[in-house]
Amino acid sequence: MRTRTIRLAVIAGSTRPFRRAHSVADWVCAAASEPGQDRAYDLTLVDLAEVDLPMLSEPAPAMVGQYAQETTRRWSELVGRFDGYVLVSPEYNHSTSAVLKNALDHLYAEWRDKPVGFVGYGTDGGVRAVEHLRLVAAELGMAGVGPQVALNLFDDFDGQSCAPRTRQVEARDRMLAGVARWAEALRPLRPARSAPVPDGDRPILADPAAYPAATDAVEQFVTALQGGVDSSDADRFDHLFAADVMWGSPYGRTLAGFTELNAIHRTLMARQAAPPSRFEIVRVTAPAPDVAVAHVRRQAVDADGKATDGFSEMAMYVLVERDRRWWLAGGQNTPIAQAQPLPS
Ligand SMILES: Cc1cc2nc3c(=O)[nH]c(=O)nc-3n(C[C@H](O)[C@H](O)[C@H](O)COP(=O)(O)O)c2cc1C
Repeated sequence: MRTRTIRLAVIAGSTRPFRRAHSVADWVCAAASEPGQDRAYDLTLVDLAEVDLPMLSEPAPAMVGQYAQETTRRWSELVGRFDGYVLVSPEYNHSTSAVLKNALDHLYAEWRDKPVGFVGYGTDGGVRAVEHLRLVAAELGMAGVGPQVALNLFDDFDGQSCAPRTRQVEARDRMLAGVARWAEALRPLRPARSAPVPDGDRPILADPAAYPAATDAVEQFVTALQGGVDSSDADRFDHLFAADVMWGSPYGRTLAGFTELNAIHRTLMARQAAPPSRFEIVRVTAPAPDVAVAHVRRQAVDADGKATDGFSEMAMYVLVERDRRWWLAGGQNTPIAQAQPLPS
């Protein structure tokens, strides 16, 4: 059974023009969507070229946790989101890259008590770079997983593009499974991030990359609601409700579970309690790759489909993707006393 999704950052550790790092990091991230993978984790590519940190110029060591630079605060916020990391490192002069070491040196608590996996590449698989990184990671309080990937410049690349041999794919998947397992195991050691946040440091949760899938999911969900109401079919209406769906009723009750809700919907639909109505998506946001939050309006309409003063409500829905299907995890509907006309 899949538990919580584990968020892993795949950090591309080179910023050179024509670097191989990005292609390697892309290949690591592709693991999350390949068939046969138990997607217990999400992989997010973090490109140090985009992060664009200056060379460390913080007055206080990272261990103190007081960051004077805006760039460090942004980096802290980004790194702090993840449960574990994969460091993609080239080998430069038998060590890791300066840019990756600099990025690690900027922070402390954000890395601590989290697992890290390593993907090295070079003429000898980048193993010397990874050995150095293991020492740095240990000092930061990270748990370095044993399985690692060692890509050879001659055998695992097509020019600058990562084209690894089959055994490297297996090594990558073993490494990722190890990072995900330890991310879950180490979770109790990490303090909940509940300290008050200074103004301006509040995160924006919306993930633009996740928005199209979330919008599709909400559209499908609303189509099911509409079909259910049009045919007075509660089973069709509740078709995408999860077994443990939670619902805040307009009468102040919390309803828990498909069975309870479906029984109520069957009764209401048999009584034709609500007039014909039309559903309209007002707003969708995707705070995480597998989560959609939607505000949906339900408006009573007459035989010509025109809004009437009858029953109208606004509802908030939370949908979650599980094994490539989206399910309703929670909902709350609120009647609106004065029906407003739908925008034309
Ligand atoms: C400054 C520098 C030093 C390097 N030193 C090594 C080395 O010690 N061992 C090795 O296997 N490859 C070494 N290489 C080759 C790199 O591993 C190879 O160019 C790799 O593609 C660099 O990663 P990047 O393209 O993502 O920056 C070195 C490359 C550079 C630029």
